[in-house]
Parts: sequence; C-alpha cells; structure tokens
Amino acid sequence: MSMLREPGPQPGRAADGTRRGRPPARDEILRNGRLGGMDPAELAARFGTPFYAYDLDVVTRQVAGLQAVLPVQADLAFAVKANPNLSVLRHLAGAGLGADVASAGELGQALRAGFAPDRIVFTGPGKRDEELRAAVEAGVRVVTVESPGELRRLAAIAEALGRRQPVLLRAAVSEAARLERVRLVGDDGAGKFGMDAADLRVAAAEAVASAWLEPIGVHAFGASNLLDAAALAAHAEATVEAALDLAAEAGFAPRLVDVGGGLGIPYDTGDDPLDARRLGARLQALADRLATSPAARGARILLEPGRFLVGAAGAYVARVVDRKTVGGRHVVVLDGGIHHVLRPALVGQEHRLRVLTGPAATRTAANAQRFPVTVAGPLCSGLDVFAEAAVMAPPDIGDLVAVLDVGAYGATESMPFFLSHPLPPEIALRGGAAWVARPRIDPEVWLGWQT
Ligand SMILES: Cc1ncc(COP(=O)(O)O)c(C=O)c1O
Repeated sequence: MSMLREPGPQPGRAADGTRRGRPPARDEILRNGRLGGMDPAELAARFGTPFYAYDLDVVTRQVAGLQAVLPVQADLAFAVKANPNLSVLRHLAGAGLGADVASAGELGQALRAGFAPDRIVFTGPGKRDEELRAAVEAGVRVVTVESPGELRRLAAIAEALGRRQPVLLRAAVSEAARLERVRLVGDDGAGKFGMDAADLRVAAAEAVASAWLEPIGVHAFGASNLLDAAALAAHAEATVEAALDLAAEAGFAPRLVDVGGGLGIPYDTGDDPLDARRLGARLQALADRLATSPAARGARILLEPGRFLVGAAGAYVARVVDRKTVGGRHVVVLDGGIHHVLRPALVGQEHRLRVLTGPAATRTAANAQRFPVTVAGPLCSGLDVFAEAAVMAPPDIGDLVAVLDVGAYGATESMPFFLSHPLPPEIALRGGAAWVARPRIDPEVWLGWQT
C-alpha cells in the first residue's frame, strides 16, 4: 500500500536484515495505559472521537535530552512542518528553541506562537515573492535560498524593503556529494531541493556581490528518520566542510551551518532509538574544530529536528464502530482512518497500535485470545488500513484504539477532506491537564462555503 517511501536505511535492522534485540523503554505519550497520565476513556468522553493528543511533557523531555548532549555552539530550530499546532509551537518557543518554517503560513504561525524573528529560519523550495517579502519584513534570522533565481528575487525584495537579508545557500545533497570533499548522506530524489555545485558557486558569488544579501553559510538536509547517529554526524561534518570550502572560494565568513533535521524515532517495536549522546559527542568534536578554524571562529551549527522532538508525544485515538469476519479474516473498523493519519499509507510505515479500553486492553485477556486482525478506518479506499494482520486481542465495538508516534507528520501530513468527515480535534496534555489545542472542525465549515 506504499505510495511513497522516505529515503534512508531500514531502521531497526542489522546488516543481515534481522531485527535487533529487545527495545529499551520509550518515553512516549502512552504509559501504563494512560495518555499523558490521563484516562483515555475520560478524554474520549470529554472531547469525542477520533482525536489527536499531544503530551507536552514528553516534548519537554525530548528537548532537554537533546540539548543536554549538544555542544554550546549548536542551536535548535523546530521544523514546524512536523507539527504546526499552536500549543505545541508555544511550548517549544517557551523552551527557547527557534523555528524552521517553509511557508508564509508556517511563518505567521511561528510568530504567533512567540518565536522571536531572529530565531526563525525560512527554508524550502518554491517560495513565492510574497513569502520572501514576509520573511524579510519579519526580520527572520536567515532565508535559505534554493536556486540562483530565488536568490535574485530575494535580493530585489530586500532592496525594495531597504533591508539587508542574511542567507544560507542550500546544497542539493546528491549534487553536493560530487564535490570533492563532500560526502553527504541522503538522496533528495527528484533533485528539486537546493543547488548543484555549479549553481552554488554562482549563487555564492552573487550573494557576496549584492549590497542587499549577506551570505553566512550553507544548508543541507540529509535523510529523513535516521536512527544511525554516525550517519547523521557524517552528514553534519560533510556539510561543514562544504560550507568552509564554499565560503573560502566565494570570500565570505561562514557564521552558520544548517545541517537540517532527520533525527529519527523508532516506529517499529524492535527498533533501537537514536543514540543522541553519540551524535552529540561527534557534533562537539566538529564544533571544537570550527572554533579553531580562523575563518569560521564563532560559527554556529543549526539543527532543524521535527520528528525527534514531537513524534512520540502524539497519539491518534479512534473508537471501534464495527467488527466482523470476512472470509475468515477478523476485521475491526474505526471511526477514524488515514484521512487523519495518512503517514502509514504515504510512506508504507505501519504505526504501533494499542487497544486502550475493554477486555482486549488487559494483558491477561490479550494473551488468551490473540490472533491476526485487520484494523481499518471508515474510508471507501483500500488504502485506509492501519494494520493488515496485527496479532492482537481484537477490541470490541465501542473500545478505543490508539495509533502511536503520530506527533510528527500526523495531522499535518494527512488528507482530511476525503469523505467529508469532521477534522479531529487536537488535544494538548501537560502536567495532568488537558485542553483543546484546536477544536473539531465540522465539514459544514468547508462544504458550506461552496456555492
Ligand atoms: C529543510 C528541512 N528541515 C527540517 C526537516 C525536519 O525533518 P525531521 O522531522 O525528519 O527532523 C525537514 C523535513 O522534511 C526539512 O525539509
């Protein structure tokens, strides 16, 4: 059912393809059958199903854990595309992070959430003039340019506004890999991201010559969802090398190297989590080398994690509306599906499912009557299946089922309009309290606008 696959190695597998040993305990929204310490049945009664829930205490711990191992020369900018919910963004802004935005919509949301403009970076292909103008007007820390054409449009806009704009030059990973000293991990597929080596040089020279642009470094995004600390570190090291080379050649002082995101989380039960301490140690060594380089003294390294900070903090909770056997196969149909959680169908990644209520949620019953169950949503599409044959005690009609690890690329990367169901509310949880971070939106809101 895969429509598209994220690049990167198969996580959780040894070189021979077998699974690694027992996974360590995870820090995630679901602990001891409770969501952020709260009773799922009470949450469902209060907010209705299906709903998304985000445990902000998990986010706090993910942020603190990462910050604790990073060098002081490293900054974090949360990739807003992973989860643009205002409560999540406010929480991260309050923790002192920056934001990585990819559209004017995300920029506006980041500003509204309280991120200071000088902590916001704007990256992404196909930025329209009005989006570039909004970024310059807001006074963002840096705009990452993805082509010489975009660089020229930005220069004209900065001039018209009378403001000098710092820029990063984005290296296309596959192309940058051909540069002598650059071996970046990843594969940016169709090559729509960033610039090849020739265009990087053109853009760098033009930026240096412009009175309205200030080139300060290079951006490169490696691969998504990497659980391999060594691969992430190698990408960061290669990006720093590329930035130093380009800066020396074009004649600007490198002040910021943006190594993107891609820090993974274990989606499969057998996956080992990313060894953040190992990543931090390699980045510390890299920062130490930068600090001793006369050309790059004072330069900072920027990471733009999304998934790592919020992925395990999120759950999607739906209620069983039907249960049947079809040709001997057990099927459970939920009141929510891939219109709200597209990622399993989009990237071919099954998410862990947990029954939250009823006899199937208890361990003794589960051991007694586990068999393969298809867990599906209500859409008229064969793609709308969360698990083809999950070995589980099947939940009863009325029971609650959680789809885990959906705090990143969950609600935001879905297709909520298909079949005109309501958009599920997003509920924020913190310290034993729950609130509506975004209310349910009924289809009348978008269907009713039609004439
Ligand atoms: C430019 C950029 N930065 C950061 C991210 C965040 O990646 P992740 O959530 O895997 O850390 C993305 C994801 O697509 C991206 O395109």
